[in-house]
Amino acid sequence: MATTGRTDYPALGGSRRVDTAVVGGGIAGVTAALHCAEAGQEVALLESDRIVEGVTGRTTAKVTAQHGLIYDDLLDRHGRTAARQYAAANAAAVEEIADRVVAHDIDCDFRRLPAYTYAASDDQRAAVEREATVAEGLDLPATYTADPPFPAETPGAVEFEAQAQFHPRKYLLALADEISDSGGATIFEQTTVTGVEDRGDGSGSPCRVETERGTVTADSVLLTTHFPIEDPAFYFARQYPKRSYVLAVRLAEDPPEGMFYRDEEPYFSVRPHPTADGPIALVGGQNHKTGQGGSTADRYRKLERQARDHFDVESVEYRWSTQDYVSVDRIPFVGELGPTTDGVYVATGFGGWGMTNGTAAGKMLAAFARGTTPRWADAFDPTRIDLEASGRVLLSENVNVGKEFTGDWAKSPFRGADPEVAPGEGEVVRRGGKQLAVARDEAGELHVTSAVCTHLNCIVHWNDAEGSWDCPCHGSRFSIDGKVLDGPAVEDLPERGE
Ligand SMILES: Cc1cc2nc3c(=O)[nH]c(=O)nc-3n(C[C@H](O)[C@H](O)[C@H](O)COP(=O)(O)OP(=O)(O)OC[C@H]3O[C@@H](n4cnc5c(N)ncnc54)[C@H](O)[C@@H]3O)c2cc1C
Ligand code: FES
Repeated sequence: MATTGRTDYPALGGSRRVDTAVVGGGIAGVTAALHCAEAGQEVALLESDRIVEGVTGRTTAKVTAQHGLIYDDLLDRHGRTAARQYAAANAAAVEEIADRVVAHDIDCDFRRLPAYTYAASDDQRAAVEREATVAEGLDLPATYTADPPFPAETPGAVEFEAQAQFHPRKYLLALADEISDSGGATIFEQTTVTGVEDRGDGSGSPCRVETERGTVTADSVLLTTHFPIEDPAFYFARQYPKRSYVLAVRLAEDPPEGMFYRDEEPYFSVRPHPTADGPIALVGGQNHKTGQGGSTADRYRKLERQARDHFDVESVEYRWSTQDYVSVDRIPFVGELGPTTDGVYVATGFGGWGMTNGTAAGKMLAAFARGTTPRWADAFDPTRIDLEASGRVLLSENVNVGKEFTGDWAKSPFRGADPEVAPGEGEVVRRGGKQLAVARDEAGELHVTSAVCTHLNCIVHWNDAEGSWDCPCHGSRFSIDGKVLDGPAVEDLPERGE
């Protein structure tokens, strides 16, 4: 965000008829819109704010089919065909990005590097070895190495050769230029979509996309809003929000050559990144479920300690956090939005690996929009219900939500007047039968809103690092004055619980 300029595409003005409307301008939406434009379609890409400033603008941007220890698990849960489709889709996405960088001559720090998932301890060594064997069996470029080039004690790692990293905004803003130069496609920013209607009754009428600035009618709608703004298929119960933290640290020595990941709770991730003043390392981790797990400011402190344990850190140049959704069976949802919807397609649940999953999803969504069924569609089918593959996690995630709901409604203290909160702090209190979220901003102004999440009525928690109200149930986030920052909620928290 600090090393690229802001975009300035116009807002929608009035109504439009297009072949395909794409809602949301992250990696999935921009890639989908470009594929549609390349197929000669008339496209409207509608973004509520500015493109590539959501999760995609705050990622760590490893471009790899290596997603921690996943392939052995996918094989076990879903069988060989689905595991192979997931592997093929993500491996093809690495190559699609590499090809586009060359074809469009995009200056985006794209660089081939090996990816390593290293064992955290001797106990994990066998799992890492098995992952290497399974991944190789799925035609991925995987080997086991006992000696990865990483400054930590580890018994070994699975290595994927010739993976990549890039600057996601430089890459996607160049794709956005291609979209707007294509003639048939238009990007509209500052245009929030408030509702989507599908083709419905088979009468041949188009889908309708309602915005605050006009209506777009389209043969197909591609919902790429990170969490889908329409939820007829209970996505909120089939994926959970994983929030994590990144530090950009300047080191006394060059960072290690490669992209590294330790698949533990919490995970730990490192990759080098070039800057004009020499390389820095992006260090990530300290993940937790959004709205749960105590002080978020503490997560940055812990991550910095971990970085200093591994490296000689001279300075912390940048820090940020964001969240991604993980599906309960570990495969994203890409395809028809619901079992009875017609013409509306979704991509969500990238599990922290959206550079490749989002690129693959963009290609698949564009195929659906052309009326064809893409390769890999079966594995990613959002309407799949496989209790064996998702059952245990599905159950535990929803029990966790139930506990948060019942625990928090009883927990907050009664207060007759607004509590004394210091700048940068927030507290939930009960008053006159209402649950109120009371917080003071850094300038000293007090903000009081309802503390009841507008999604499904859980009580929000204060996020002391970001100064936001975060819901522990399904990951909605709200600004200090109640504006929706992240779905599934689509309505703001009312002021003073009105
Ligand atoms: C800390 C962290 C590190 C990560 N690192 C990696 C990594 O190294 N490699 C990797 O592969 N993946 C990584 N990921 C995951 C990856 O960043 C995400 O999966 C991906 O960016 C999600 O892209 P998206 O297009 O779905 O969402 P977004 O980028 O969030 O795009 C959604 C867009 O929709 C817009 N929108 C929302 N609602 C509306 C509406 N009503 N109307 C119009 N527009 C709307 C939003 O404003 C936003 O611009 C990481 C994730 C995290 C949290
Ligand atoms: S996000 Fe579902 S209740 Fe808040």
